[in-house]
Amino acid sequence: MKIYNLTVKNIINETKEAYSIEFEAPNEAFSYKSGQFITLILTINGQEVRRSYSLSSAPLIDKNPSICIKVIHQGLVSNYLKNNIKVGHVLKAIEPMGHFFVDPLSDAKQHIILIGAGSGITPLYSIAKSILKYEPQTKVSLIYGNRTQADIIYYNQCQELTSQYKDRFQVIHSLTKPDANWVGFTGRINENAVIKLVEQVAPIHFKTCQYYICGPNGLAEDATKALELLGVSKQNIHKESYGHDKNEAAAASVVAASTVTNGKSKVKIIDGKKTYEFEVDPKNTILETAIKLDINLPYSCQAGMCTACMGKCTSGKVHMENADGLTDNEIKQGYVLTCIGHPASAEIVIEI
Ligand SMILES: Cc1cc2nc3c(=O)[nH]c(=O)nc-3n(C[C@H](O)[C@H](O)[C@H](O)COP(=O)(O)OP(=O)(O)OC[C@H]3O[C@@H](n4cnc5c(N)ncnc54)[C@H](O)[C@@H]3O)c2cc1C
Ligand code: FES
Repeated sequence: MKIYNLTVKNIINETKEAYSIEFEAPNEAFSYKSGQFITLILTINGQEVRRSYSLSSAPLIDKNPSICIKVIHQGLVSNYLKNNIKVGHVLKAIEPMGHFFVDPLSDAKQHIILIGAGSGITPLYSIAKSILKYEPQTKVSLIYGNRTQADIIYYNQCQELTSQYKDRFQVIHSLTKPDANWVGFTGRINENAVIKLVEQVAPIHFKTCQYYICGPNGLAEDATKALELLGVSKQNIHKESYGHDKNEAAAASVVAASTVTNGKSKVKIIDGKKTYEFEVDPKNTILETAIKLDINLPYSCQAGMCTACMGKCTSGKVHMENADGLTDNEIKQGYVLTCIGHPASAEIVIEI
C-alpha cells in the first residue's frame, strides 16, 4: 500500500457539521477513480488511528484532491480534524482504494441514479461530475436525503450542475425535519421512498438504470431491498456504507452462528516470512484484535470495502459480517477479509 503525505491547501465549511479538506496536488502520481476513498492515518493521544474518506473531487476535473467530513457526535477523528487541522498541515493517507467507482465511457448512453444521505454525498458528487463531463449522452439523477435544508452538503454545487447540464442532471432532495417553507420531498430515504422516487425519475426504464448508493446507517440495505423489489438486477446495484450500525448487527449474527462457544479461537497469520499467533474472541474481528495487540497487519478501510486486509484461510473457518467486498470466486477460493472476519472454528490459519 502506498502512503502519501498530503498537504492541506484549504478547509471549507460546507454546512454547520460538514467541512471539506482540499489538499495540494501531490508531487508524485496520485491516481484515483470517482467514488474511491483515501484512508487517513493519524496519531491521536499517542494511538494510531485510521479513518477512510471518499474523495469528493473528480480526477481530470478538479486539480486538487478533496474530501468532505461530517462531524459525528463524540467521533474521535471527525472532531479531532475539525478542531486541529490547519492549512499547511501534512496528513498521511493510504492510496485511493475501493470498488465503488465509475469508469466513464464516452460513447455510453445510460441513466445513472445516485442515492445518498448525509456525508454519503461525497463519492456521489465526484461520480456525478465525472459522468456528466465524460459521458455526454448519459443522464444522472441524484436522490439525496438530509435532516434540514441547512444540512445539505454541496447544495449550491448541485444547483450549478443542474443549470450546466439542464437535460441530463436532476436532484431530488428529501428532508426529515424540513422548515415550514420547504416545498420539496419529506421523509427518510427508506424502502418506500426509494421505490417512489426511483419510479418518478425513471418511470419506464428503472430496471436498466445503474444505481450507486452511499450513506450511513442502513441506507444501502434499505435502498437495495427497494431496488430488488422493483426487479433491478444485482449487477446494476453498487453500494458503499459508512455507518457502524450495520456492522454491529451483522457481527452479532455472525457470533450467534459461531461454533466457537468455549472461549477464544487460536489464529495464526502468515505474512511472508513473519508468522503471528494470537487468540481471538469470536465477538471481535481478527483485525481489531491484532491492532489491539500491536500486530502489524495490512489494512485500510476497516469496513470490508477495500480488500487491503484480504488473506486466504488455509485451515479452519472465518465468518465474515458481509461478503460485499469479495467476488464469489474469491470466496470460493477461501479468501477472507480480516477487518470483518470473526473466528468460527477453534483454530484458523490465514495467509496474507
Ligand atoms: C469507505 C468509507 C468511506 C467513508 N467516507 C466518508 C466521507 O466521505 N465523509 C465522512 O464524513 N465519513 C466517511 N466515512 C466514515 C469515516 O471513515 C468515519 O467513520 C467517520 O468520520 C467517524 O469517525 P470518528 O472517528 O469521528 O468516529 P468514531 O470515534 O469512530 O465513532 C464514534 C461513534 O459514532 C458512531 N459512528 C461512526 N461513524 C458513523 C457514521 N458515519 N454515522 C453515524 N454514526 C457513526 C460509532 O459507532 C461510534 O459510536 C467513510 C467510511 C468508509 C468505510
Ligand atoms: S481493511 Fe478494507 S476491506 Fe478490510
